[in-house]
Amino acid sequence: MANKAKFQAIKGTRDLLPPETELWNRVEQTAREVFGTFGFGEIRPPIFEPTELFARSIGLDTDVVSKEMYSFEDRDDTSLSLRPEATASVCRAYIEHNLHALAQPVKLYYMGPMFRRERPQKGRYRQFYQIGAEVLEALQQGQADSAKSTGKDAAVDAEVIEMVMAFFAKLELEGVQLEINSIGCRECRPKYVEVLRKALIEVKDKLGPDSQRRIDTNPLRVLDSKLESEQELIATLPRIGDYLCETCAKQYAEVKRQLAVREVAYKENWRLVRGLDYYMRTTFEITARGLGSQNAVCGGGRYDGLVEILGGLPTKGIGFAIGEDRLILSLQEAGKGDAAKGRDVYIAWMGEKAQDTGIRAARALRQAGFRVELPPAEQKFGKALGQADKIGARYALILGDDELASGQWTLKTLADGSQQKLTVAQLLEFLKQNCSSPLQG
Ligand code: HAM
Repeated sequence: MANKAKFQAIKGTRDLLPPETELWNRVEQTAREVFGTFGFGEIRPPIFEPTELFARSIGLDTDVVSKEMYSFEDRDDTSLSLRPEATASVCRAYIEHNLHALAQPVKLYYMGPMFRRERPQKGRYRQFYQIGAEVLEALQQGQADSAKSTGKDAAVDAEVIEMVMAFFAKLELEGVQLEINSIGCRECRPKYVEVLRKALIEVKDKLGPDSQRRIDTNPLRVLDSKLESEQELIATLPRIGDYLCETCAKQYAEVKRQLAVREVAYKENWRLVRGLDYYMRTTFEITARGLGSQNAVCGGGRYDGLVEILGGLPTKGIGFAIGEDRLILSLQEAGKGDAAKGRDVYIAWMGEKAQDTGIRAARALRQAGFRVELPPAEQKFGKALGQADKIGARYALILGDDELASGQWTLKTLADGSQQKLTVAQLLEFLKQNCSSPLQG
C-alpha cells in the first residue's frame, strides 16, 4: 500500500478544540456585551481585500506590509491579500457605505482571524485572532482642529481605552498594564523625527543593523527596539513629549486627565510608537501576565486622516485590537480557562424502555438549556458512570427498572457520589438551582 502522508495544520496555524473553544466563546460573548453597553455595533468585513488597501493604510515600509502579508494574484491579475488587521477594512467600509451620513461618531467592533507571516512562537501565530473596535467621525464642513475639538477627541480616546479596560476587568484578566503616549501630528511629528534622525546619525556606530537601516526608513521605530545593547543609548535620545505642538500637548494632557476621572490606571511610555504608519497623537498598548516576550495583548491609537488617504472625506478615527490568542493564553495561565467544561447530565440508562424514557428526558433537559449526554447504546452502570466521569459530567441520571416503575429517578452527584430520588419536576428544579449552563438565563 502506498505510504499515505498525514496532513498537518500549516506552520503558525492551529486547530482550536473543545473544551478550549468554550473559553473563546465566553470571551467573545463578553466582548459583545461590554462593547454593546458602550453603544458599539458589529461589523464583519471580508477576510481578503485588495493589497493596495493595506499598503496605503499601514504603510509600505512597515514590517506588516513589506514582509508579512499573504498576497496572491487573482485570476484577473489584481493583487489580493489576506487581511493582516482590520482597521483598513473598517475605513474602506465606512467610505463604501457612506457611513459619514449616519449619526456621528460611528462605533464598530469586529472579531475574527488575521494573517501575518511572522516567526511563530508562544503567543505569535500566522493565523491569529483579533477583537477590535473603531470609532469614526466625519468632520463637519469647515471644522478644523480647534481647541474644542481636541477636548472632544480626548474624551473619545479615553472612553475607548476605558472600554477595553472594562472588558479585561470583566474577564478578570490578571496583571493588566496600560501604557500610553502621544506621537504628535502632521505638524509636529516630522520636526521631531528630524531631531531624532540627527541624534541617531551621531550614534549610528553603536546601533545594530536593524536600527541603522531604520535611521533612513523610519527613525521612530528605533525606539521600539528590544535589543539589549541599544537600551542605554535609546534612553538618552530626544523625547517626543518635548516636541509636541500646542494642540497635541493639550489633547494628551486631557486624555490623561480623563483617564484619571474614569479611574483607569496608566503608565506613560514615550517610546511607544506602534508599528503601523496610520497613527497620530494618542497611542496605547496593554500587556497582561503569563505571556512571555509576546505580552502585548492589545494595541491601538488615533488615526485621523486615514479615511481621507483611502479616498473618503476628512474623518477622525481611534481604535484598538486585542490579540485574542494572547488574551486566552493569559486567562488559561491564571487558571480561568476551565470553568465551563463537560456536561451537566449524563443519562445512564438500562433496558429498552429506559432508553425511550432517556430520549424523552434528554429532550426535556436540553430544551431547558442543560448540556446532556445520552449514550446511544446500553451500558452497564459501572461503565456508564466511568464514561460520565471521563467527559466531565456533573450529574448522572440513572434510569433502570426501579426508576421506571416508581417514576422517581436517581440523580447521582459525581463529585461526591451522593444520590437522591427525584420526580421529573423536582429534577428540573434541582438542576436549575445547581447548574450554570451557558444557555441558562
Ligand atoms: P497591532 O498592534 O498590529 O494593531 O495588533 C494588535 C494586537 O494583535 C497585538 O497587540 C497582539 O496582541 C495581536 N497580534 C498581532 N500580531 C499577532 C500575531 N502574529 N499572533 C498573535 N497575536 C498577534 C493592529 O492590528 C491595529 N489594527 C489596532 C488598531 C485598531 N489600531 C487602531 N484601530
